[in-house]
Amino acid sequence: MLRGEGEAWNGSLPGLYDAGHALATFAIASHMAGGALLLALGPLQLVEPVRRRFPGFHRLVGKLYVACAGLAGAGGLAFILAEGTVGGAPMDLGFAGYGVLLLIAAGQTFRHARAGRMDLHRAWAIRLFALTIGSWLYRMEYGLWFALTGRLGHTATFDGWFDRLMVVAFYLPNLVVAELIIRRRESRMAAGFASALVLVIAALVLLATWTFTAHFWGPGIVRGFTGSEF
Ligand code: HEM
Repeated sequence: MLRGEGEAWNGSLPGLYDAGHALATFAIASHMAGGALLLALGPLQLVEPVRRRFPGFHRLVGKLYVACAGLAGAGGLAFILAEGTVGGAPMDLGFAGYGVLLLIAAGQTFRHARAGRMDLHRAWAIRLFALTIGSWLYRMEYGLWFALTGRLGHTATFDGWFDRLMVVAFYLPNLVVAELIIRRRESRMAAGFASALVLVIAALVLLATWTFTAHFWGPGIVRGFTGSEF
């Protein structure tokens, strides 16, 4: 974008950059910037020693996190309204649902923290985190699926059966895991199940992240900054 090569976005998804539609371009650009920061900041907020020893830092990053969630959510929703998604109405609805839930969770997390209702703040923060990592899991789940099945149920216009399933499958299951984690203090079974599930998912995500970074994104990012391969 900074080099004036917005068209290059469309190599990833057609229709992402529209030179004649400044609002949609602005919305999706803020969306991607807010989303990237959101993913980077989230894990910091979960580290207990950081929260305990540096509460001011946790509050500052928390405000930034909520603002980025607003930017990613509102930018995504504005893009859906202005341009529509590549996958048509089902994807518009699935993604809009994701955006609305993200905005609600961000608002609740902030509101309860301000009012000092820490149990509620904690529960909503876990839901918010589970939702935000959905955008990462979406890419991972697609990547793993492609590697395992050779793009079964996927089309370039995102209207295959797998694409239809994925419009909600990247965030609704996360909320189930979040509820198990929130309730883990009340039930030992929920605690054990949630921990095992999170460990298995984390191992898979780590493997997929490494594979994609090494083979696709890493070289692309280096090329974007330096103009040459490493
Ligand atoms: C952590 C949060 C998020 C991040 C990091 C993120 C990241 C991205 C990125 C990088 C793209 C560009 C296309 C691609 O590479 O796949 C994109 C597209 C998009 N995102 Fe997000 N996103 C996030 C949250 C959301 C939310 C909450 C919504 C719902 C409002 C949303 C809706 C969209 C839409 C509609 C597109 C365009 C899809 C199309 O071209 O058809 N995203 N997002």
